[in-house]
Amino acid sequence: MAWTGYENLNSFMEGLKKSDELVEIDKEMDPGLEIAHLLKALGDRGGPAVLFNNVRGFLGAKMVGNIMGHRRRIAMALGTDELRLTDTFVERVQQRIAPTEVDDGPVKDIVIKEPDVNLTKSLPAMIHHEKDAAPYLTCAVTFARDPETGLQSMGMHRIQILSKNTMTICLASPPLAGFLAKAQKMDKDLEVAVALGSDPGTMIASVVWCPSGVDKLEIAGALNQQSVKIIPAETVHLRMPSQAQYIIEGVIHPNELAGEKQFGDSSGIYVKDVVSPVIHVTSLSHRGSPIFQELQTWSAEDDALFDLSFGSKMLQDAKQIFPFVLDVCLAKGTCAAQANVKFAPVAAAYRRAAICYILSTNPFIKSVIAVDEDIDPRNPSEVEWALATRFQADRDLILIPNLQGSIIDPSAGPSGITCKMGIDANYPKEKEAEFEKIDVPEDVKKRVSKILEQHYKG
Ligand SMILES: Cc1cc2nc3c(=O)[nH]c(=O)nc-3n(C[C@H](O)[C@H](O)[C@H](O)COP(=O)(O)O)c2cc1C
Repeated sequence: MAWTGYENLNSFMEGLKKSDELVEIDKEMDPGLEIAHLLKALGDRGGPAVLFNNVRGFLGAKMVGNIMGHRRRIAMALGTDELRLTDTFVERVQQRIAPTEVDDGPVKDIVIKEPDVNLTKSLPAMIHHEKDAAPYLTCAVTFARDPETGLQSMGMHRIQILSKNTMTICLASPPLAGFLAKAQKMDKDLEVAVALGSDPGTMIASVVWCPSGVDKLEIAGALNQQSVKIIPAETVHLRMPSQAQYIIEGVIHPNELAGEKQFGDSSGIYVKDVVSPVIHVTSLSHRGSPIFQELQTWSAEDDALFDLSFGSKMLQDAKQIFPFVLDVCLAKGTCAAQANVKFAPVAAAYRRAAICYILSTNPFIKSVIAVDEDIDPRNPSEVEWALATRFQADRDLILIPNLQGSIIDPSAGPSGITCKMGIDANYPKEKEAEFEKIDVPEDVKKRVSKILEQHYKG
């Protein structure tokens, strides 16, 4: 029977639970730091998603986190396994399944319109780090229309709650940043609507790099292998996923900006002095029993999403010019700044060309470690072993100064100008015997892994 994906967060959570990929915590926990740190610590251990049944200060509210915190669970969302995840993802992102319009959906169980909206009371929005100055929505998917063409699309953008009915939104990447720029030029308001707790395809598609002019909900449908059901928003001219947990609607005035309060970002540092557009909220809708979805920043979930979306794009682009590039893994905790790249055997000069190309694909990437086919780029100990045994800094190091880097790298120069680094940790193939990795035969590995599975779950 053909696999049909998950329609909403609830059915995905049921699937995760059946596969021991979701645990429930009944103990009361504080959305100010405790839940955030638990999500970080669990993600670091490769642990499951968590449903918090008792959120302090929000009687009856449920919160879920670490949903996409491991490639295992992202693979489950796409009905595949870890080994086939990248290929399945790349294939589906090129397909399109248009959303289907429906008249009603569970996200409209409760509809609250201004002046009755009170975000601070209705949402158990979290404080994520010790020095964060305000609660943020970290995995909100925001929808808007291109003011010129009317095309609707979406993206994941961090949102800070300022008051009972205002929020700032960090609109730094396309397509939404482009929509706002056009609205500003035309001196028009930009209507937006934010979905919290989306179906897995919508969440993943929101961070997919795609050509302009595409409605990312069509990619969400392709990822889920079923059309996303959409309903008209209440107060803005947008179509929203009917199966979401919450929808917040509002308007951005073209030239109104507000300072975002300090916040610990995906890069692992506190961002300060950021000025962002303001959303004036017009309505809040939600399910009868909504589940508030949380994503801890600088965590395994951030890593997994960056690796999937940015890493797969880098791999696809590099492969077109350099077919000997086999895999790209964005290293954990680096916010897409370091790529471990696996190469098929090829002359060093071609490898160096590919390293320089990958370093120039986007501003976030700062270093590339090139490894051989026998190294798993997703295993930090193997990458470090390759560095220890196959790399000589005076021979294999590439430095390219004065390139555009990330503007949030505090070690970079003015406007993010940075020095990028390539490390070629491949061995010369004519000396294979000197570099052979010690190992045991595959049949022994298989037998031992069965014994391990019976005795140790880690
Ligand atoms: C975990 C995560 C958080 C993100 N947060 C933001 C954000 O706060 N602001 C922003 O402009 N882009 C953010 N992005 C990037 C965009 O949502 C999206 O990935 C990017 O725009 C790529 O798609 P595009 O082709 O539409 O540019 C985030 C991406 C990820 C993976």
